Amino acid sequence: MDSKDTDIQNREDLYAIVCLFYEKLFSDTQMAPFFKAFRQPESLEKHLQILVDFWDNILFYSGSYTKNAMLPHIEMNKKIPFKSEHFKLWMHYFTEAVDSLYSGEHSEIIKSRAQSIATVMQIKIVH
Ligand code: HEM
Repeated sequence: MDSKDTDIQNREDLYAIVCLFYEKLFSDTQMAPFFKAFRQPESLEKHLQILVDFWDNILFYSGSYTKNAMLPHIEMNKKIPFKSEHFKLWMHYFTEAVDSLYSGEHSEIIKSRAQSIATVMQIKIVH
Protein backbone atom coordinates (compact mmCIF):
# COMPACT_ATOMS: atom_id res chain seq x y z
CA MET A 1 0.00 0.00 0.00
CA ASP A 2 1.23 3.49 -0.88
CA SER A 3 2.06 5.48 2.28
CA LYS A 4 -0.28 8.19 0.94
CA ASP A 5 -3.18 5.83 1.65
CA THR A 6 -2.29 5.74 5.34
CA ASP A 7 -2.73 8.40 8.00
CA ILE A 8 -0.19 9.80 10.47
CA GLN A 9 0.00 7.29 13.30
CA ASN A 10 3.06 7.94 15.42
CA ARG A 11 6.29 9.87 15.98
CA GLU A 12 8.02 8.03 13.12
CA ASP A 13 5.39 9.38 10.73
CA LEU A 14 5.78 12.89 12.17
CA TYR A 15 9.55 12.59 11.77
CA ALA A 16 9.10 11.66 8.08
CA ILE A 17 6.96 14.79 7.62
CA VAL A 18 9.35 17.23 9.31
CA CYS A 19 12.36 15.79 7.42
CA LEU A 20 10.66 16.28 4.06
CA PHE A 21 9.32 19.68 5.14
CA TYR A 22 12.79 20.93 6.11
CA GLU A 23 14.30 19.66 2.83
CA LYS A 24 11.78 21.88 1.08
CA LEU A 25 12.51 24.88 3.34
CA PHE A 26 16.28 24.49 2.80
CA SER A 27 15.77 24.39 -0.99
CA ASP A 28 13.86 27.67 -1.03
CA THR A 29 16.07 30.77 -1.24
CA GLN A 30 13.53 32.91 0.66
CA MET A 31 13.16 30.42 3.53
CA ALA A 32 16.68 28.98 3.88
CA PRO A 33 18.20 32.06 5.65
CA PHE A 34 15.93 31.50 8.68
CA PHE A 35 17.32 28.00 9.14
CA LYS A 36 21.06 28.73 8.83
CA ALA A 37 21.68 27.52 12.39
CA PHE A 38 20.49 24.05 11.37
CA ARG A 39 23.00 23.44 8.58
CA GLN A 40 24.97 21.12 10.86
CA PRO A 41 23.30 17.68 10.92
CA GLU A 42 23.49 17.44 14.74
CA SER A 43 21.70 20.74 15.34
CA LEU A 44 19.14 19.94 12.65
CA GLU A 45 18.46 16.54 14.21
CA LYS A 46 17.89 18.12 17.63
CA HIS A 47 15.53 20.72 16.13
CA LEU A 48 13.56 18.08 14.17
CA GLN A 49 13.07 16.08 17.38
CA ILE A 50 11.64 19.22 19.04
CA LEU A 51 9.24 19.63 16.11
CA VAL A 52 8.21 15.98 16.45
CA ASP A 53 7.57 16.60 20.18
CA PHE A 54 5.48 19.66 19.28
CA TRP A 55 3.26 17.83 16.76
CA ASP A 56 3.10 14.63 18.83
CA ASN A 57 1.68 16.74 21.63
CA ILE A 58 -0.89 18.40 19.37
CA LEU A 59 -2.06 15.26 17.56
CA PHE A 60 -1.69 12.63 20.27
CA TYR A 61 -1.68 14.67 23.53
CA SER A 62 1.64 13.08 24.48
CA GLY A 63 2.72 15.87 26.85
CA SER A 64 6.04 15.94 24.95
CA TYR A 65 6.09 19.72 24.34
CA THR A 66 5.47 22.23 27.12
CA LYS A 67 7.27 25.36 25.94
CA ASN A 68 5.88 28.47 24.26
CA ALA A 69 6.71 28.00 20.56
CA MET A 70 5.93 31.65 19.84
CA LEU A 71 8.99 32.99 21.73
CA PRO A 72 11.82 31.74 19.45
CA HIS A 73 9.94 33.22 16.49
CA ILE A 74 9.63 36.60 18.20
CA GLU A 75 13.42 36.52 18.79
CA MET A 76 14.18 35.37 15.23
CA ASN A 77 11.94 38.14 13.85
CA LYS A 78 14.30 40.70 15.41
CA LYS A 79 17.17 39.29 13.30
CA ILE A 80 15.29 38.48 10.09
CA PRO A 81 11.85 40.12 9.79
CA PHE A 82 9.08 37.66 8.99
CA LYS A 83 6.88 38.73 6.08
CA SER A 84 3.49 37.38 5.12
CA GLU A 85 5.13 35.78 2.06
CA HIS A 86 7.27 33.66 4.41
CA PHE A 87 4.17 32.35 6.16
CA LYS A 88 2.58 31.51 2.80
CA LEU A 89 5.66 29.55 1.75
CA TRP A 90 5.97 27.85 5.17
CA MET A 91 2.34 26.70 4.96
CA HIS A 92 2.69 25.68 1.31
CA TYR A 93 5.67 23.40 2.01
CA PHE A 94 4.12 22.01 5.18
CA THR A 95 0.92 21.09 3.32
CA GLU A 96 2.93 19.60 0.45
CA ALA A 97 4.99 17.49 2.85
CA VAL A 98 1.92 16.14 4.69
CA ASP A 99 -0.07 15.49 1.50
CA SER A 100 2.74 13.70 -0.29
CA LEU A 101 3.13 11.21 2.58
CA TYR A 102 -0.21 10.74 4.36
CA SER A 103 -3.97 11.23 4.19
CA GLY A 104 -6.82 10.98 6.67
CA GLU A 105 -8.16 12.59 9.82
CA HIS A 106 -4.81 13.24 11.52
CA SER A 107 -3.41 14.66 8.29
CA GLU A 108 -6.32 17.11 8.11
CA ILE A 109 -5.98 18.04 11.79
CA ILE A 110 -2.23 18.72 11.55
CA LYS A 111 -2.71 20.99 8.52
CA SER A 112 -5.57 22.93 10.08
CA ARG A 113 -3.67 23.38 13.37
CA ALA A 114 -0.59 24.53 11.43
CA GLN A 115 -2.75 27.05 9.59
CA SER A 116 -4.36 28.45 12.73
CA ILE A 117 -1.03 28.72 14.60
CA ALA A 118 0.56 30.36 11.52
CA THR A 119 -2.31 32.87 11.38
CA VAL A 120 -1.92 33.82 15.06
CA MET A 121 1.87 33.95 14.74
CA GLN A 122 1.62 36.19 11.70
CA ILE A 123 -0.76 38.58 13.48
CA LYS A 124 1.62 38.78 16.45
CA ILE A 125 4.85 39.09 14.48
CA VAL A 126 4.40 40.71 11.05
CA HIS A 127 4.19 44.50 11.11
C1 HEM B 1 7.41 32.14 8.40
C2 HEM B 1 7.17 31.01 9.08
C3 HEM B 1 8.14 30.38 10.02
C4 HEM B 1 9.52 30.46 10.06
C5 HEM B 1 10.45 31.21 9.12
C6 HEM B 1 9.95 29.66 11.20
C7 HEM B 1 11.25 29.50 11.60
C8 HEM B 1 11.66 28.87 12.73
C9 HEM B 1 13.01 28.86 13.25
C10 HEM B 1 14.21 29.57 12.61
C11 HEM B 1 12.99 28.15 14.39
C12 HEM B 1 14.18 27.89 15.33
C13 HEM B 1 14.20 28.96 16.38
C14 HEM B 1 15.29 28.74 17.40
O1 HEM B 1 15.58 27.57 17.75
O2 HEM B 1 15.85 29.73 17.88
C15 HEM B 1 11.65 27.67 14.60
C16 HEM B 1 11.26 26.88 15.65
C17 HEM B 1 10.02 26.33 15.75
N1 HEM B 1 8.96 26.56 14.92
FE1 HEM B 1 8.90 27.84 13.39
N2 HEM B 1 8.85 29.11 11.81
C18 HEM B 1 7.74 29.52 11.13
C19 HEM B 1 6.45 29.18 11.41
C20 HEM B 1 6.07 28.24 12.33
C21 HEM B 1 4.71 27.79 12.56
C22 HEM B 1 3.48 28.33 11.82
C23 HEM B 1 4.78 26.83 13.52
C24 HEM B 1 3.68 26.00 14.15
C25 HEM B 1 2.57 25.68 13.51
C26 HEM B 1 6.15 26.69 13.91
C27 HEM B 1 6.63 25.81 14.86
C28 HEM B 1 7.89 25.83 15.39
C29 HEM B 1 8.30 25.08 16.56
C30 HEM B 1 7.44 24.13 17.38
C31 HEM B 1 9.63 25.39 16.79
C32 HEM B 1 10.52 24.86 17.92
C33 HEM B 1 10.44 25.82 19.09
C34 HEM B 1 11.31 25.33 20.26
O3 HEM B 1 12.53 25.20 20.06
O4 HEM B 1 10.75 25.06 21.32
N3 HEM B 1 6.91 27.55 13.16
N4 HEM B 1 10.86 28.13 13.58
